Amino acid sequence: MILKNIAIIGAGGLGKEVAVLIQQINAVNAGWNLIGFYDDCIEHPVIGIPVLGSTEKLNSVSKALAVVIAMGNPQQKQKIADSLHNNNLYFPALIHPSASLGVNVIVGDGTIITAGSRLTVDITIGKHVLLNLNSTIGHDVTIGDYTSIMPGAHLSGFVQIGLGVMVGTGASVLQKLKVGDYARVGAGALVTNNVNSGATVVGVPAREKI
Ligand SMILES: CC(C)(COP(=O)(O)OP(=O)(O)OC[C@H]1O[C@@H](n2cnc3c(N)ncnc32)[C@H](O)[C@@H]1OP(=O)(O)O)[C@@H](O)C(=O)NCCC(=O)NCCS
Repeated sequence: MILKNIAIIGAGGLGKEVAVLIQQINAVNAGWNLIGFYDDCIEHPVIGIPVLGSTEKLNSVSKALAVVIAMGNPQQKQKIADSLHNNNLYFPALIHPSASLGVNVIVGDGTIITAGSRLTVDITIGKHVLLNLNSTIGHDVTIGDYTSIMPGAHLSGFVQIGLGVMVGTGASVLQKLKVGDYARVGAGALVTNNVNSGATVVGVPAREKI
């Protein structure tokens, strides 16, 4: 079995979790050789895995390399993705073996689906999305590029989540609602109305935070 090289952008907390995710994927179906992290701030090894340089260095990699952007902040993810222009780089989706994907679930490049997440049917997930631990994604949901759905968040049927949205830990969005681009839904919020682009909503029921 030839293993494919993979690198993680971001050696912080999520980066460590993605390193473990890759180990757990390999334990079921060996496919990846994790060569290290790329990070603009951290230089020392993290959990025994080397940091190979800053993100910019990836633009001069001369062989095919899978890359995953391990950052929770949607704007940071988008900035990093926009800064990479090397055709040797590709962005596989990484899906934990315990995640449950139903029927007609489309997952974009670079998306990370971690342990315990459940997605049912007719769902479209964009590029570089994070579905963190135990999130549930109902039927006919769409999620835009760079969005992060934090642990234990729940999206009901027909929900439309825009580009670069952050849905906080334990938040719920009721059926058929739309959350606009770059909006933030606070941890624990219960969204009962559409959320405007760029807005931050918190609480139960969720209200806009000025
Ligand atoms: C909603 C959120 C995005 C706001 O962040 P922020 O703009 O930096 O806001 P602040 O932390 O400065 O808080 C501003 C006010 O909102 C309140 N607030 C913040 N988050 C809240 C939440 N989730 N629910 C209710 N109130 C909240 C704060 O208590 C504070 O109130 P005050 O002005 O009366 O003191 C953030 O608090 C949040 O919930 N992020 C989700 C984090 C998460 O899920 N992380 C997962 C990591 S795996």
